[in-house]
Amino acid sequence: MNAPALQGLEINAPDYVKHPRLLAWVADMVALCKPERVYWCDGSQDEYDRLCQQLVDAGTFKKLNPAKRPRSYLAWSDPSDVARVEDRTFICSEKKEDAGPTNNWMAPAEMRATLQPLFDGCMRGRTMYVVPFSMGPLGSHIAHIGVELTDSAYVAVNQRLMTRMGRAVYDVLGVDGDFVPCMHTVGAPLQPGEQDKPWPCNPTTKYIVHYPETREIWSYGSGYGGNALLGKKCLALRIASVMGRDQGWLAEHMLILGVTSPEGKKYHVAAAFPSACGKTNFSMLVPPPAFQGWKVTTIGDDIAWIKPHADGKMYAINPEAGYFGVAPGTNHLTNPNCLASLHQDVIFTNVALTDDGDVWWEGLEKDGGGALPAHLLDWQGKDWTPEDGKAGRKAAHPNSRFTVAATNNPALDPQWDDPNGVPIDAFIFGGRRSTTVPLVTEARNWMEGVYMAATMGSETTAAAFGAQGVVRRDPFAMLPFCGYNMSDYFQHWLDMEHKLERLGHTLPNIFCVNWFRKNAEGQFVWPGYGENMRVLKWMIDRIEGRAQGRETMFGIAPQYAEINWQGLDFTPAQFEAVTHIDKAAWTEEFKLHAELFDMLAYHLPKELLATKAAMEQRLAAA
Ligand code: OXD
Ligand code: MN
Repeated sequence: MNAPALQGLEINAPDYVKHPRLLAWVADMVALCKPERVYWCDGSQDEYDRLCQQLVDAGTFKKLNPAKRPRSYLAWSDPSDVARVEDRTFICSEKKEDAGPTNNWMAPAEMRATLQPLFDGCMRGRTMYVVPFSMGPLGSHIAHIGVELTDSAYVAVNQRLMTRMGRAVYDVLGVDGDFVPCMHTVGAPLQPGEQDKPWPCNPTTKYIVHYPETREIWSYGSGYGGNALLGKKCLALRIASVMGRDQGWLAEHMLILGVTSPEGKKYHVAAAFPSACGKTNFSMLVPPPAFQGWKVTTIGDDIAWIKPHADGKMYAINPEAGYFGVAPGTNHLTNPNCLASLHQDVIFTNVALTDDGDVWWEGLEKDGGGALPAHLLDWQGKDWTPEDGKAGRKAAHPNSRFTVAATNNPALDPQWDDPNGVPIDAFIFGGRRSTTVPLVTEARNWMEGVYMAATMGSETTAAAFGAQGVVRRDPFAMLPFCGYNMSDYFQHWLDMEHKLERLGHTLPNIFCVNWFRKNAEGQFVWPGYGENMRVLKWMIDRIEGRAQGRETMFGIAPQYAEINWQGLDFTPAQFEAVTHIDKAAWTEEFKLHAELFDMLAYHLPKELLATKAAMEQRLAAA
């Protein structure tokens, strides 16, 4: 954008920022966006407290009862701004084929021409916050730096919880370090004297734009989650997936957990699940009593950056430093560690407010024997009683969130902040399917694992994704997050095998899971949550060569006797219900895989078609 560059002085840059390219960019963006003032975030506690108070004064935050939730706040968004906007998310590569059929695309020049008038003056009457952040431990060779310019104080305080944000980033950047420029505006300039809204946003115009070749992010019109906290989905997945392709590593929509045996042997697992399939729960799993001495610890709950290392292993870091998790459904049964993380220092968004100044969401009643609060203010500030609940009106928005620093998590892994990351022993890919996909199978080889991941799907549960029960294919759980052509991404995964073999690596085992099989009555058969430890233990037995398993068309499955059932009444018949491979259903399923591959035909690795044919042959022979 051709705005005249201002001098460092005019943008009030602190003297510890010594990076001419960064200073020039901020000056250009100030000239374009025309904010009232520029504020450089230092990431201190004092600054966080001040900005939170400012948000309270502006009506964006309510301070929660300090006796119940110390140092915690609740924000209610504009009802038009409650989730990521996939239909407004663009990958603007030079060539359309490089974005591929799963991404919205516009030519970069055309998109720049579209955004130019929108960004011109977009911060009038507002403060521009300069938010420097590291995705990954500061200075880690796996980490990358971003700088977000935003006119939202809500974004600035959330970024302090979600990333390593603040002054120390400039030490890493030095005078010419690389950073990803992240432009964000709520798209609601203020006229002189105009009263601001508690949640400013642009109700009609939203753009979440990525330029993969120049590694820039431009986000307009939304203040919510992944649309606005640009380190998360935009940088750590969409832009980083492109960096990974070009530099030979992986940026994945995966949690990372550690599992330690009673003998003290530790394993690390990275697991991909589509959004809203319980990733945070799995990453904080509490093993059932039968697994005494086993420990599960969290490295990350959403994103993994994984790089091959000269010692023959792949090492993963969690690029984030906090959790932006879905609140509804979280309770002592589903995720006690998460609940314990939320006692203090939390920003809640779009949950309900209790009469005593605390928060509430659907699912919390399970902790109190089913009793609902007699009265609440719902996420839009309206009165809510159990009668409203009975009528189907939710008190908390289904996509309401908590933002909390990872250090609040009692199950946090001691190595979560290790700049070298942790060595990955296994990958898990899991969809949400009421039929077909078994509880767990292990891929016989890397290729088969890539096939399982490429074809995974999730049955829709919320109106947001359309009709109930329709399978949305979500390859590698990356459908909304892959910054380039999905078939090229498959190829990148296939190439990784050869690259790792050349380096003499032991390849991580690859497993496919499905916690969500239903019986004829439409009920879930597998109890899930902490009981998933039983499956995790079988995986470890496979890694250690202790479980033989049995061959199926779709990989190696456990034998009933290979799973520790102590303390769980799960009969062989139930086990059959969650592991059975139904020939007719799979014949139909393969037709859907064919549809996916037709859609992804450009650059689709032919090995995927060969793997499909081999599975179909095995199915026919079964
Ligand atoms: C998330 C998502 O918020 O995947 O993590 O949508
Ligand atoms: Mn996610």
